Amino acid sequence: MRLTSVEVIEEGAALALAWDQGTRARFHAFWLRDNALDAATRSPGNGQRLITVLDLPAESRIATATSDADGGLAVTFQGQEGRYAWPSAWLHAHRYDRPAPPPAGWTGPALRRWDAGLDWRADVADFATAAREPAVLRRWLAAIARDGFAVMTGLPLESGALCRVAELFGYVRETNYGRWFEVRSEVNPTNLAYTNLGLQAHSDNPYRDPVPTLQILACLENTVEGGESMVVDGFNVAERLRQADPTGFALLAGHPARFEYAGSAGVRLAAKRPMLELGPDGELLAVRFNNRSVAPLVDIAYAAMPAYYAAYRRFAALVEDPALQVRFRLEPGQLFIVDNTRVLHARTAFSGSGRRWLQGCYPDKDGLLSTLAALTARLDRAA
Ligand code: FE2
Repeated sequence: MRLTSVEVIEEGAALALAWDQGTRARFHAFWLRDNALDAATRSPGNGQRLITVLDLPAESRIATATSDADGGLAVTFQGQEGRYAWPSAWLHAHRYDRPAPPPAGWTGPALRRWDAGLDWRADVADFATAAREPAVLRRWLAAIARDGFAVMTGLPLESGALCRVAELFGYVRETNYGRWFEVRSEVNPTNLAYTNLGLQAHSDNPYRDPVPTLQILACLENTVEGGESMVVDGFNVAERLRQADPTGFALLAGHPARFEYAGSAGVRLAAKRPMLELGPDGELLAVRFNNRSVAPLVDIAYAAMPAYYAAYRRFAALVEDPALQVRFRLEPGQLFIVDNTRVLHARTAFSGSGRRWLQGCYPDKDGLLSTLAALTARLDRAA
């Protein structure tokens, strides 16, 4: 890739570039100077920027700009020492002068929205194999990054073993529930009519700030009838809502909800965040949905409250749509992991005699994405 045209415009305040495959883009002088690649601007060791915006003249202007021998860009700035150079491909990859925003997913692999047809079995990994073989671990982590959900088998039937899964890629976040927590249910064998209620699909701990970004639920025992696990892609649900009811989507995204939890041991957790959290460019960042911990909603104007509740109900109805849900039964030694900012999880009702014993913990997504990126770079280099 080479530059075919370099033109100083706006009296040196900007440059207009053209590449050999037809792309054109303008760059501001200040942006170029701030993003210089020389060793005084960027650390050659770790790539971190060594200057602040206050180190640069507010009125940075380009003195000269040419295409260098490699087809890249060479620039000098008025009143500044030095000549700065950028490869043409770097400039092309970082151009911002274009109508469409860059696609989401810069922080990790692209997301794949899914429904009941998700072929999650294709990405099931065995614990010991993933621990031993980097390519297997990469594939499993990539599935989590892409789908926000994956299943693992072969976990030792030991209390706390789920933390070893988190340690394959990152760290467990300890909370007031401990390093891990118990999800135990026992059906009363003397009263077979007794039914353990199902739970509506939800994201965990929306009353926490920040919320846990991943959750692992591992099964140690499951002898009940029913008691299946169910997951729903909250981003897919939100997108369905956005298409069917853009006004409702905007209401859930545009108003804070409140979530709270008051535990018995002096715990009082509260967070004020929207149910659908958007970035400034409209990218969906997080879904918070939990009927058990939503607090009285008081941040929505009187006139807007009926429409807000209508949108909330519509979102909830989509969550209940079996066409969007993936159901499966966790057997002892199996676990599932969800991106808790995206995928909602639930338990269906169960009855009969028997016990259901799960353990949960909260690792974080930054560690997963970091390990995935590093593994990918290492495996690609070796290939
Ligand atoms: Fe949960």
